[in-house]
Amino acid sequence: MSKQNKAVYMTGLNQLETRDQEIPSLANDQVLVNIEYVGICGSDVHYLEHGAIGDFVVDKDFILGHECAGTIVEIGSDVTELKVGDRVALEPGATCGQCEFCKSGKYNLCPDVEFLATPPYHGCLTNYLAFPANMCFKLPDNISTKEGALIEPLAVGLHAAKQGNVTLGSSVIILGAGCIGLVTLLASKAFGATDITVVDVIEKRLDYAKKLGATRVVNAAREDVLELDEADIVIETAGNRITIQQTPLLVKRGGTIVLVGMAAEDTIEYNFAKIMAKEATIKSVFRYRNLYPTAISAVSGGKIDITGIVTHEFDFDQASEAFDYVINNKNDVVKAVIKIKN
Ligand SMILES: NC(=O)c1ccc[n+]([C@@H]2O[C@H](COP(=O)([O-])OP(=O)(O)OC[C@H]3O[C@@H](n4cnc5c(N)ncnc54)[C@H](O)[C@@H]3O)[C@@H](O)[C@H]2O)c1
Ligand SMILES: [Zn+2]
Ligand SMILES: [Zn+2]
Repeated sequence: MSKQNKAVYMTGLNQLETRDQEIPSLANDQVLVNIEYVGICGSDVHYLEHGAIGDFVVDKDFILGHECAGTIVEIGSDVTELKVGDRVALEPGATCGQCEFCKSGKYNLCPDVEFLATPPYHGCLTNYLAFPANMCFKLPDNISTKEGALIEPLAVGLHAAKQGNVTLGSSVIILGAGCIGLVTLLASKAFGATDITVVDVIEKRLDYAKKLGATRVVNAAREDVLELDEADIVIETAGNRITIQQTPLLVKRGGTIVLVGMAAEDTIEYNFAKIMAKEATIKSVFRYRNLYPTAISAVSGGKIDITGIVTHEFDFDQASEAFDYVINNKNDVVKAVIKIKN
């Protein structure tokens, strides 16, 4: 088979370069995926602009991208559950399978996880990727590979709603209407929340939230968020000191706060007296676990329409322009995807 494999490398701050490279060789438990779509995530942009996220530092040429789907073109000798021609969404974290977290099912907490585009592990902005078969999830015929690439952010939203125990009849306040706020909205709706308020400071993002089914939207630049009725579940996805500080004031007595957004500061002043008086619970989210099958069947069964979060699409040979555009138009872009395969 004659195949060409290109990959987009980050070679320095705000520098991308497309290179030809060998098709990766397969381990017995891996499949070779011809990648078709890759979503650009805030974390990819953050690495490109700043070279690090917390302790994860980019210190060599580095392939970005962790939200992807494609078609299997080759399988390792031990792979039995997947075959050539299957279209799959890739769950980007390969875990050890041996530690207490893996064994208890909380594999997202595995300290040895090898996560795509998290240094030192390269990402998926490439034509061909060798990946563990057990982290590749088959897409039914009625899900496109573009939707397949969006299963990753959707899984974050599902995990957030699950951590908050969102259920039929829940009232939910979602702080932030970026990609993660919007997938949290879709997930909360799918879990049965009947009253969902979405807060942001960008009108366009609130329009998306309204379109995707928010009961009400609030522009925090113009309205006082603390006037809102308290909600059973408050989910923080803005990653902002101010919104984090609002959570104890917005949650109902006995309710749950879910922290998803990552603030620039490690330490933030927080009203624990309110948490105590309300006997509120604080939960947090680190990626997701065991949710790809749920996400795929929710999209396939029509419970969640994920296509609405994609606002921009670029071709693979425009990868550099795509990142430039996303960086320079942060308010306009909710989710940009790169079409790898034409
Ligand atoms: N915990 C996890 O596993 C996980 C996974 C993915 C992303 N994240 C984090 O989630 C956060 C959101 O990601 P995203 O891609 O949606 O980012 P984003 O920047 O697109 O969205 C953040 C939104 O918050 C809004 N916002 C800012 N200040 C606000 C305020 N005072 N009130 C209300 N809204 C305000 C912004 O206008 C923006 O629309 C980031 O911090 C990201 O790092 C966490
Ligand atoms: Zn992502
Ligand atoms: Zn482990």
